[in-house]
Amino acid sequence: MIRGRQAEHVAVQRLLTSARGGHSGALVVRGEAGIGKTELLRHARETASGFRVVNTVGVESEIGFAFAGLHQLCAPLLDRLPALPEPQRTALAVAFGQRTGEAPDPFLVGVATLGLLAEAAEDEPLLCLVDDAHWLDLVSAQVFAFVARRVQAERLVLVFGLRDQVPASEAAKVFAGLPELRLAGLADADARALLASAVRTPLDDRVRERILAEARGNPLALLELSRQAAPAGLAGGFGTPDALSVPGRIEESFQRRAAGLPAPTQTLMLVAAADPVGDAALLWRAAEHLGIDAEAIAPAEATGLLEVGARVRFSHPLVRSAVYRAAGPAERRRAHAALAEATSEKADPDRRAWHRAQAVLGTDETVALELERSAGRARARGGLGAAAAFLERATALTPGPADRAHRALAAAQAKHEAGASDAAFDLLSIAVAGPLDALHRARAERLRAQIEFARTRSSDVPGMLLHAAKTLAPLDPAQSRDTYLQAIEAAIHAGPLGHGRGVVEVAEAASDAPPPVGPPSPADLLLDGLVTRFTCGYEASVPGLRRALHAYRENLGTDDTSRRGLWGACRAAYMLWDDQTLYELTTRYIRLARDAGALTTLATALNFHSTILVQIGDLAQAAGLVADVTAILESTGAPPLPYDIVRRAWVGRRAEALEQFEVMVQEATRRGEGTVITLANSSMSVLYNGLGDYRAALKAASVPCDYDELTHSSAALPELIEAAVRAGEPARAEATLERLSSRARASGTPLALGIEARSRALTTTGPAAEDLYREAIDQLSRSRYATFLGRAHLVYGEWLRREGRRQDAREQLRTAHEMLSGMGVEAFAERAARELRATGEQPRKRAAQPADALTPQELRIARLVAGGATSKEVAAQLFLSPRTIDAHLRNIFGKLGIASRRELRTVRLP
Ligand SMILES: Nc1ncnc2c1ncn2[C@@H]1O[C@H](COP(=O)(O)OP(=O)(O)OP(=O)(O)O)[C@@H](O)[C@H]1O
Ligand SMILES: [Mg+2]
Repeated sequence: MIRGRQAEHVAVQRLLTSARGGHSGALVVRGEAGIGKTELLRHARETASGFRVVNTVGVESEIGFAFAGLHQLCAPLLDRLPALPEPQRTALAVAFGQRTGEAPDPFLVGVATLGLLAEAAEDEPLLCLVDDAHWLDLVSAQVFAFVARRVQAERLVLVFGLRDQVPASEAAKVFAGLPELRLAGLADADARALLASAVRTPLDDRVRERILAEARGNPLALLELSRQAAPAGLAGGFGTPDALSVPGRIEESFQRRAAGLPAPTQTLMLVAAADPVGDAALLWRAAEHLGIDAEAIAPAEATGLLEVGARVRFSHPLVRSAVYRAAGPAERRRAHAALAEATSEKADPDRRAWHRAQAVLGTDETVALELERSAGRARARGGLGAAAAFLERATALTPGPADRAHRALAAAQAKHEAGASDAAFDLLSIAVAGPLDALHRARAERLRAQIEFARTRSSDVPGMLLHAAKTLAPLDPAQSRDTYLQAIEAAIHAGPLGHGRGVVEVAEAASDAPPPVGPPSPADLLLDGLVTRFTCGYEASVPGLRRALHAYRENLGTDDTSRRGLWGACRAAYMLWDDQTLYELTTRYIRLARDAGALTTLATALNFHSTILVQIGDLAQAAGLVADVTAILESTGAPPLPYDIVRRAWVGRRAEALEQFEVMVQEATRRGEGTVITLANSSMSVLYNGLGDYRAALKAASVPCDYDELTHSSAALPELIEAAVRAGEPARAEATLERLSSRARASGTPLALGIEARSRALTTTGPAAEDLYREAIDQLSRSRYATFLGRAHLVYGEWLRREGRRQDAREQLRTAHEMLSGMGVEAFAERAARELRATGEQPRKRAAQPADALTPQELRIARLVAGGATSKEVAAQLFLSPRTIDAHLRNIFGKLGIASRRELRTVRLP
């Protein structure tokens, strides 16, 4: 009979009720061992009438088996697999070992799982119970946490049981930030009632108080400790009240009960405890190897500590750990050896290898080799965490120092890729301590730099990468060049916060890179172009970089070659004012990341693309992408990237932009991302030019221009010129114009030439300026950046008004105002409105649109649907379920006053 827990039951009921009403929710039930988590999950299952229930349980030592926990939960739902879109279907099949294929990204598996659960919830609401989540294999935990963060409207409830442990397991950390229910001890009255119902014989008052005090409301402690309620029994275990935690005390009590059993019984219990699966047939085979009769288990069953049917079930997980921990190392090895013998090498090579590994004292090359093979299989399924665990154990078992070092390096690489940088770092130290050949030593060095970048973004990283690249040059030229490119990228990232002369110094060193082997890849061309950019200057680098960008555009594959260096290529296109290429490359960057389910890369790519949409004048769509980025980062549990500065600056609301600026600079300084500081300042120069605060604009624009960074100086040079002219610093404007002009001519794109003409017009006095303004408008109308065109009309109109040509001025200013306000570029639009009023004309107010009421995410969905996408397609794009999309659509229809998808196409969406 359950005591207390009324509030907890209400919380669970609320979730279930809301799911019946079409919503979804997740809850992490936390607390110490024995506090009642499993009991609460059971309560959820029993009261979930009308729900279909699926469940899974993490098992200690299951950590090495990729997707084991997830597979268990999904197995009964796999008949829904055909309903999923193709890349998701394959991802799940590969993860579950049903098909071979490229190892799927965990997040793609996450999206697929969400889809699968949502499909199942179409018929009836679905309750997913995941107990002992702290013991899940890492990648299963990641997938569950992802799903828990993305559910919205699919009638899904996820409840996790998670034991608080110190230190927390990797799997447990993944659940941080989800809605939580922390279980405390039972209230005194409930504890007394539980104790009373557990003990049939009357209890001595002193003993009762003692038990209550020791148990601190932990139900399992109350039940277990009262078994030894006789005062004599208490003396031993209770002599030192504070020596053990409550779970420790319970475990000790279990150990004491098991210790009284016959020796063969204890051995069988140990074997059962050492097998995570609980397969009874396996237990009997292992018993045979040990020469123990199956009957020997009977006394253990009689105590109620375990139960053997088709499965072996311990009465509580703590019994299992108590038994396992009580055994000596030699006994444990014997148990694992028997289990290894009893496990089929053909059917289950990984478990066999794992047990053999636990059975080894010292080192054993054969076993290490088996583990290495298991690691390969885990990796092929996308279980990097599991692969790393196998390799780590293989390292420890390897007798030869050279082999050990190589395995440690492979283990470190896998840990790093699985996101466990601290563990990777430790393994790397083992690798470099051993004898490594020159090539592997160089790879280790490169890995150290990459881990360091992931861990701290230290400004030492470019130098470390350079060193590795140099060592790699004679050994593996292709990897060397790749590493040089990474070094330059890291230096661009560090920007003004980098060491010494920053990227220039790195580029100088990179000019020693070996020539490409065979025909140069896009990344090869990019490396050479970037080296030229920072050693010989902008103009000299244009032909080479243009060749590189051309190669990227031609090379549209999804393979590693077309992916490598894409970030740098986008930046180069930015620098060249090549808006068309930039648009294409960032679009592709997004697609590649999306198809691979690589969410962190996707967030970067979406961010990049959103800044381009802003300049194109599609601020609404840009806001939608920013909303996606936020959602993605939430789904991974990562802290939000406060990088929405470009859009805010162009919108032109001072307070909003400033707030973002401060957060961004602070965060970037802490993380050593100097490039973000130049980006932030370049954006602020736009903001201030829009607001007409030219002194402030001048100051902000100087930061990226003085540092002369790859991209942001291209954006900031024209801002600086406009600000300097208006702030009455013509000399400064002149000097900057020269710099801009020579670059723009080298680039030669309509965008570059338009910007140049506009800047020259601003610095020109007298009638000569007019041709330049006209040329600017002409060139810019051939570029994608409508915001720039709008601003060209604005400055031309301002000039005309000052020339006293009121009618001509009005025409330009009207165009500027209409364009800019239509795009939502508010500050510049207001600047145009002010000028227009000064000519005596009232600017036309932009009529409010029904679509204004939509949130950025709703707008994004509305646009996709209006473009003909199905809910399923939109769901896959936004990492949500189709039902959630439908729920959003209902809101959208309500706000727009329409009733169908067809009508949506007739609505004017910004
Ligand atoms: N509120 C309660 N009233 C009565 N008995 C309870 C209550 N909560 C739990 N119990 C009993 O206490 C024991 C321990 O509870 P449970 O197994 O749920 O703990 P747990 O938190 O899941 O522990 P672990 O972290 O080890 O899995 C079980 O036998 C359970 O039936
Ligand atoms: Mg439990």
